[in-house]
Amino acid sequence: MKTFLQYNPTKLYFGQGQIKQLSNSLNKHINILLVYGGGSIKRNGVYNDVMNQLKQLKATVFELAGVEPNPRLSTVRKGVEICKNENIDFILAVGGGSVIDCTKAISAGAKHDGDAWDLIKGIAPIEAALPFGTVLTLAATGSEMNNVSVITNWETKDKLGWSSPHVFPVFSILDPTYTFSVPLDQTVYGIVDSMSHALEYYFHRTENTPVIDGFIESLLRTAVATGPKLIEDLHSFQHRETMMYLSTTAFNGLLASGTDGGDWATHRIEHAISAIYDIPHGGGLAILFPNWLEHVLEEDPSRVKKLAVNVFGISAEGKDDMEVAKEGAKALREFWNSLGAPSRLADYKIDDKDLDAMVEKTFIKPGVGTYKEMNDESVRDILNRSL
Ligand code: NZQ
Ligand code: ZN
Repeated sequence: MKTFLQYNPTKLYFGQGQIKQLSNSLNKHINILLVYGGGSIKRNGVYNDVMNQLKQLKATVFELAGVEPNPRLSTVRKGVEICKNENIDFILAVGGGSVIDCTKAISAGAKHDGDAWDLIKGIAPIEAALPFGTVLTLAATGSEMNNVSVITNWETKDKLGWSSPHVFPVFSILDPTYTFSVPLDQTVYGIVDSMSHALEYYFHRTENTPVIDGFIESLLRTAVATGPKLIEDLHSFQHRETMMYLSTTAFNGLLASGTDGGDWATHRIEHAISAIYDIPHGGGLAILFPNWLEHVLEEDPSRVKKLAVNVFGISAEGKDDMEVAKEGAKALREFWNSLGAPSRLADYKIDDKDLDAMVEKTFIKPGVGTYKEMNDESVRDILNRSL
């Protein structure tokens, strides 16, 4: 193992009815900005639950609605302006990863004199951020318990991930019943996204990591067992609860403990595609990940073989490593397809027209891939396999 620091300051309130923790968590604040998306929280009653809590406070509440899936810099800028004009001292994000990511950028932008994009691009240092909390409504990204955010600049068509120790949520409220209304497609994307995070952590090159490898395999086996049952019964408390905890755990830092941090090339390629085509993140990953596996196993099948055997229960008896690894990549693709996830870029009407731009945007920040370092050729190969 490598030496490591495990640090995560986010307070997690998990379970049905935990919204009752909201008013107490906010009672020191004077001007609160409530940030949410396109209206799902008004349709499913979460907005009312939140407002009932906020009414118990003396604080003034401002609202920023309409955060887009794949949240945009233009909305971040609007939020920053409200924070600066209204002396906001706390932000409350109510929604999925997009609302939370947008909130993180607003919170850092509010403490910065220049444009928020400079912080996201890493050309200005993030020295502080407004505190914020979240009420999660979609199990997918893990943004509710990490310090990562992904923002799209629609003018330049760039989608950039960034992180800072200043943008961990102070608290997050996770009530599985708040995810009952997530439609089938977004539920599937959430399963794919959380599994992809676990998979990317799995592809590290650190020796002697049996505990973390075992955690990851257990998490993946749980997703494989739960996913099909959940899509058959979207109102199952049991399965929503499992997936909600699973997706948070998949990307709250735990799975990087003692390893080199894994290989996030698939995420980088997916962000490049959604920067141009605005496709759902989980949909893009479902297409790319099995092709990334097939690309890497050609050089070294050992880790994909381990995944095949320990997660998908594929027998290695009488087979060489390459054969088992290929069955593993196929099993992942078939599993996601069985849930209804897309398998080709053509499913989103994407052809090779923008292939060069996708390759270029993958390298918008240097250094892509650690388990297998990517260059233009390798990204092009994965994209070609995905068309
Ligand atoms: O906007 P509303 O009306 O709320 O509708 C949303 C949106 O249309 C809807 N939704 C959310 N909760 C719902 C619901 N509909 C019904 N009932 C509910 N309870 O679902 C749609 C998608 O929401 P979004 O927040 O975009 O999805 P997700 O949580 O998958 O977030 C995706 C974004 O997160 C980024 C992705 O790149 C993408 O931009 N990521 C962020 C990460 C992070 N911060 O750690 C890591 C990830 O790898 C990812 O890159
Ligand atoms: Zn993701």
